[in-house]
Amino acid sequence: MVLVAPSILSADFASLLAEVRRMEQAGADWLHADVMDGHFVPNITMGPLVLEALKGKIKLFVDVHLMVEQPQNFLQPFSEAGAQLITVHAETCPHLHRVVQSIKKLGCQAGVALNPATPLSSLQYILEDLDLVLLMTVNPGFGGQEFIASVITKIRELAREKEQRDLSLKIQVDGGINAQTAPLVVEAGADVLVAGSALFGYGDPQKLIHAFKLLPQTEKNV
Ligand code: DX5
Ligand code: ZN
Repeated sequence: MVLVAPSILSADFASLLAEVRRMEQAGADWLHADVMDGHFVPNITMGPLVLEALKGKIKLFVDVHLMVEQPQNFLQPFSEAGAQLITVHAETCPHLHRVVQSIKKLGCQAGVALNPATPLSSLQYILEDLDLVLLMTVNPGFGGQEFIASVITKIRELAREKEQRDLSLKIQVDGGINAQTAPLVVEAGADVLVAGSALFGYGDPQKLIHAFKLLPQTEKNV
């Protein structure tokens, strides 16, 4: 079954804990925290304080997506705030291998994200070290953007590579995921779906999460 990771970027921050619990009750698996610095992306969101406030109060697996320059400076604070998986952007890391090892040393799972225009080949020599690859299906920076369909080919290529090299990493997709686009990415090989506006802006997120989980996975991602 695919895993569903609501992005709290689209939550009502005035009632954040209640919003996260609503997703837990609706059957979500992960909490996806979008961290933006106003440099790598043109928006500023949250720091470790926000996750610290939720720590010990929620059951979801905590997935932190760092859209920041110099991500190595923020690994420890997010790990201490409760992150269980930390994803950095390949575009921000000239020493990607070192950053991935630092994440693992903190006891977290390690993920690397690629913008829509960044080729998969940038990860060729590091795939074995990764727990997750995040293929962005929008340009990072904002919730509620339109899905970029050309990334489907990249998902399919990574799923093929994963199968051929017998890798256990998860393929996560993020941006514009909704009832229309989820079947396309799951068919291509995605196994973790991030969704912000579709889940938080929806009357009954349980229905949509349930529908995501019923999507048939290909052999590549089972
Ligand atoms: C985009 C963020 C996403 C975003 C997803 O930069 O990484 O996680 O919040 O939002 P939707 O699902 O609304 O595209
Ligand atoms: Zn994200």
